[in-house]
Amino acid sequence: MNASLQGHTVSKPNATAQALLSVDNVSLEYRTPQRVVRATHQVSFEIDPADRFVLLGPSGCGKSTLLKAAAGFIQPVEGEIRLQGQRVDAPGPDRIVVFQEFDQLPPWKTVKQNVMFPLLASKTFKRKEAEERAMHYLDKVGLAAFADAYPHTLSGGMKARVAIARALAMQPKILLMDDPFAALDALTRRKMQEELLLLWEEVRFTLLFVTHSIEEALVVGNRILLLSPHPGRVRAEVHSHQYDLHSLGGVAFQESARRIHRLLFDEGQSPETARELDFSDIRIAY
Ligand SMILES: Nc1ncnc2c1ncn2[C@@H]1O[C@H](COP(=O)(O)OP(=O)(O)OP(=O)(O)O)[C@@H](O)[C@H]1O
Ligand SMILES: [Mg+2]
Repeated sequence: MNASLQGHTVSKPNATAQALLSVDNVSLEYRTPQRVVRATHQVSFEIDPADRFVLLGPSGCGKSTLLKAAAGFIQPVEGEIRLQGQRVDAPGPDRIVVFQEFDQLPPWKTVKQNVMFPLLASKTFKRKEAEERAMHYLDKVGLAAFADAYPHTLSGGMKARVAIARALAMQPKILLMDDPFAALDALTRRKMQEELLLLWEEVRFTLLFVTHSIEEALVVGNRILLLSPHPGRVRAEVHSHQYDLHSLGGVAFQESARRIHRLLFDEGQSPETARELDFSDIRIAY
């Protein structure tokens, strides 16, 4: 085992000082009257400013639960989550979540009103400022012309853009996205990935992005945390900054996807076999 790895930590050992979000040995549980479900077990990672950090793992491994904990909706039973050194213990406007379901947009509000709503609700903006800011971000996602449209008249991809504009308009310290393109058809999904990367080039926001698609993780992320099946434990962290949509289908990209698949799904995999995968930019944790 790599000597610098403690427990299930795989993030850069020297990143602690400047990390924007630190997830430190975090176990998360759901308690129902019948039983306790452990969703993640001692998960650690660190996200630096302007990272596009991806949580990747099979269904039920606790990705959404980790995102909800980073948002402050649920508290760890073990470990701690910190945003710029401050313990996360409640939701706040510095962490905005974009969920998978785009029907999160209230249908009785226009596109512009939807984007303005959290700005006004947080009481930091007057109506005129909120409107200007909403239009600025709607323009960024190419929807300025649809400002007065109602959500039911929009395609899935357009609703996704509204949700992203609404989140970015709040200028959060970190944008949390939970499998945001999963419900879209393959072509629209690819287009949204491209637009998200273009938007990131322009705005340089910090992103925590959940997906169960290996390809999407490689395209969207600069770093990918691989989680084991339920309960989620850290398997490895992969550096993927070298890939974008133009890499799709390329030999190196396919090879990385295949290796990640093996790391995620190979049953009975030992540290030795993982190391044999010869991933020069991967850090394995067991
Ligand atoms: N509200 C809840 N009450 C009890 N158990 C829950 C609840 N929400 C999730 N779980 C359990 O916690 C575990 C992790 O769930 P989570 O939704 O975080 O997985 P996920 O990785 O996001 O999966 P998917 O890729 O399917 O979205 C699962 O075993 C799930 O059954
Ligand atoms: Mg989920």
